[in-house]
Amino acid sequence: MDKNANIVNLIVDGKEIKASEGANLLRVCLDNEIYVPNLCYLKEMEHPPASCRLCFVAIEGYPQPVTSCTEVVREGMVVMTDTPEVRRLQKSAFELLLSVRRISFCKTCIANKRCGLQKIARFLGVKLRVAHLNRIDVDREVDHTHPYLDYDPDKCVLCERCIFVCGNINKTPMLSLAHRGLNTSVTFFESAAILENSCKGCGACVEICPVGALTLKSHNKVTG
Ligand code: SF4
Ligand code: SF4
Ligand code: FES
Repeated sequence: MDKNANIVNLIVDGKEIKASEGANLLRVCLDNEIYVPNLCYLKEMEHPPASCRLCFVAIEGYPQPVTSCTEVVREGMVVMTDTPEVRRLQKSAFELLLSVRRISFCKTCIANKRCGLQKIARFLGVKLRVAHLNRIDVDREVDHTHPYLDYDPDKCVLCERCIFVCGNINKTPMLSLAHRGLNTSVTFFESAAILENSCKGCGACVEICPVGALTLKSHNKVTG
């Protein structure tokens, strides 16, 4: 809790919680061991992109569930994280996300057992394999153009965590989102020759990726 902020009292799933006024609601839930599925939020983000649409909660007085990563706590707030409507919205968002991802190769993926999708699937009781009819096959190539990184757009959940983290490290971030619709993907701004000098090769983007979309080339060389 922020020692300089006012303290507010709220109730989440019947549990009385104290938090700093203005703190991010998703963060407060997670800090109090109330798990709300999320992929695109990082506590350092002032303005989370709210792109994964997984972190829905119901708040008393609100007409419908809202994304908790875009809400701040206030005195007297009453929050429910597990109503049928909340779960329905979370499952729909998750299934939509899976429908455009190639997730049938978990066993050979670098993120196996630490993957954000596996964790959320377990939590929501949803199968990771999407029924064939609901699957939108985009099947894009892995991008090997970066000198240090490989990027698999079919595994990417477009959470933008890598972009945010790289922006914090580099005054000029090396990553961005490009294209539209089903073809939206992370892109490296520069040519490989320029990237070799400008990218620090720090691996922070790989570390923060909740799935196995970004990998360090050295890893690929080691494991084949
Ligand atoms: S390796 Fe580091 S510097 Fe390079 S793109 Fe990733 S976060 Fe940015
Ligand atoms: S590469 Fe990883 S961290 Fe970056 S947007 Fe895709 S899933 Fe998120
Ligand atoms: S964590 Fe809130 S929308 Fe992704």
